[in-house]
Amino acid sequence: MIRHLLSAADLDAQTATGILDTAAELASLSGREVKKLPTLRGRTVVNLFYEDSTRTRMSFEAAAKRLSADVINFSARGSSVSKGESLKDTALTLQAMGADAVIVRHWASGAPHRLASWIDGHVINAGDGTHEHPTQALLDAYTMRERLGCLAGLQVAIVGDVLHSRVAGSNVRLLAALGARVTLVGPPTLIPLGITQALGGDLRTSYDLDAVLPDTDVVMMLRVQRERMTKAFFPSPREYARAYGLDGARMRRLPEHAIIMHPGPMNRGMEIAPEVADSARSTVVEQVTNGVSVRMAVLYLLLGGSAK
Ligand code: NCD
Repeated sequence: MIRHLLSAADLDAQTATGILDTAAELASLSGREVKKLPTLRGRTVVNLFYEDSTRTRMSFEAAAKRLSADVINFSARGSSVSKGESLKDTALTLQAMGADAVIVRHWASGAPHRLASWIDGHVINAGDGTHEHPTQALLDAYTMRERLGCLAGLQVAIVGDVLHSRVAGSNVRLLAALGARVTLVGPPTLIPLGITQALGGDLRTSYDLDAVLPDTDVVMMLRVQRERMTKAFFPSPREYARAYGLDGARMRRLPEHAIIMHPGPMNRGMEIAPEVADSARSTVVEQVTNGVSVRMAVLYLLLGGSAK
């Protein structure tokens, strides 16, 4: 097993499938009255969050607690970071406290990689800037596999603000390893130029959502990340919704079996209409449930074998 989970590129098909299979076994726990396993008793897991989060932080906390680890939550707001403390000094503090694993979310792309070079424990990337969010891609793959069976050959459309999306970054890499065929869809301003050459594989791009939908098994809508936009990438939210929002009419152009995903938080009415977000085809809530099992599997596989 790998030591850190920094990028979905660290995962080959075998490792990724091993994580998904372990998650499926662990998922059966959530139906039990007592949800805990003693596996990580006495181990310390730190949630180091420099950016806001609802789902990811709570999900990692629930996952670590279900494996009986001790969890310390750190949020940059209200910490010595506001006094100018560097990531390195914070990392050394965590190390001194005996953290066995650090789950890090940071606004700077690459921060988890730096952290991994400073501390002895395992590092898990919970989202770095616009770069990667590997456990999100794993829970998305888990959800696709659960709903549609095998991932190989699935047609997946990832739609919207690809430019700023670490969810897209990790999904493109993981889905390639698992044999799915990805099309990135969005306005030209939000699809990075040269991305297909950079990432290779079967990756395709399109600026026309309506043309892509009829041949799609999975449509993954991305949040428009206005907090990361320093200039105007589209004329107005209404224009964006008209061209790239998934509304009821567009949903009906999808094949019968197709599912609709969103990592959350959603901009309802912008990239996704409430009617679609709340429909039976939407897996938004399932993704959250699956996230706990997948993160349990990651913690279990990374920390489980390595007694310190
Ligand atoms: C995403 C993130 O933070 O990267 N959300 C998540 O982890 N569920 C996507 C987003 O913020 O749009």
